Amino acid sequence: MTASVLFSPLKLRDLTLKNRIFVSPMCQYSCADGVPTDWHLVHLGSRAVGGAGLVMCEASGVSPEGRISPQDAGIWNQAQADAWAPITRFIKAQGAAPAMQLAHAGRKASTFAPWRGQGAVPEGCGGWPVMGPSAVAFSEKYHHPREMSRADIAACVEDFVFATELSLQAGFEVVEVHAAHGYLLHEFLSPLANIRTDEYGGSLENRMRFPLEVCAAVRKAWPGHLPVFVRISATDWKAGGWDVAQSVEFAKRAKALGIDLIDVSSGGNVIDQEIVLGPGYQVPFSSAIREGANIRTSAVGLITDAVQAEQVVAHGHADSVSLARALLRDPYWPLHAAARLGVEVAWPDQYKRAGVGPLGR
Ligand SMILES: Cc1cc2nc3c(=O)[nH]c(=O)nc-3n(C[C@H](O)[C@H](O)[C@H](O)COP(=O)(O)O)c2cc1C
Repeated sequence: MTASVLFSPLKLRDLTLKNRIFVSPMCQYSCADGVPTDWHLVHLGSRAVGGAGLVMCEASGVSPEGRISPQDAGIWNQAQADAWAPITRFIKAQGAAPAMQLAHAGRKASTFAPWRGQGAVPEGCGGWPVMGPSAVAFSEKYHHPREMSRADIAACVEDFVFATELSLQAGFEVVEVHAAHGYLLHEFLSPLANIRTDEYGGSLENRMRFPLEVCAAVRKAWPGHLPVFVRISATDWKAGGWDVAQSVEFAKRAKALGIDLIDVSSGGNVIDQEIVLGPGYQVPFSSAIREGANIRTSAVGLITDAVQAEQVVAHGHADSVSLARALLRDPYWPLHAAARLGVEVAWPDQYKRAGVGPLGR
């Protein structure tokens, strides 16, 4: 047996994750009225069976208007919380922690699911009017947003709080505030999407105000013994936009509010981003935030190989890795990674006879 940091437990408040491999949130575009289905149970359940320490559910709208597409999951009403409950129960029964990603898509709401079309879903075809920090569209193919009023901002904080309460009822053990990928909270952070002139725009302090209000309100509504994560885009990949230095400042402020971990992604806020892709391309951002803000981080983005993942955590670039597409290709990625790293990890009892020896009883 080999010592592995990737397969060592991670304690966050009173929650101990059995390893540091997270299922990164992935929209499935498979709901009606935001209610998760058997698809979600099997999809998320398979990844829990596959050995991930934490299974993050997809971006789930805190309000109907906060959904990216009409088929997105939601967490704004009791029917949705009730439908999430068997899913969280199954994930926990496999020894993994179920996590909910609380989301509002802002100016990028009311768009087609990838296999249904591109750009804005028109009103009258299942779409709806959208809002953002400013009346600036993401692109000409997206809805033109209206600028949010202070009352809209206050109501949205309340939506996040109610969604947090419902997440607890549904059995989740972690909530993550989605402040990345050009959705509402990221839009407020970035001067490329936020051109407000009131106390929610302009200076870094003002642009951080609403996202930090949401973080504080969610933290307050969530039990003290359970962790809260925030996902951010560490950079807009565009000059004059949100960047790593501002992300470090934001992470410091989030930490002071009791946020336990920053899930470090990037991009998605402007159509002309100049992104540089490569294996582990966002890991340096995680490293900078972990060191600069002295907060736990999860690294994500083209982490596909067991040795690579082990090195990300062993070298202190992150406290965990989040995998998306690699886990779509192989739900048993964690079990295969353990074998590759020479770490002994128990397979589910039901699958123990999958070994290549004689068919014992
Ligand atoms: C099908 C799919 C759906 C996604 N949905 C979400 C989402 O709901 N919330 C989110 O924060 N990121 C979402 N992402 C981004 C992933 O969580 C992840 O950050 C990104 O794919 C990079 O990781 P990877 O290289 O391991 O795929 C999605 C990615 C994919 C492929």
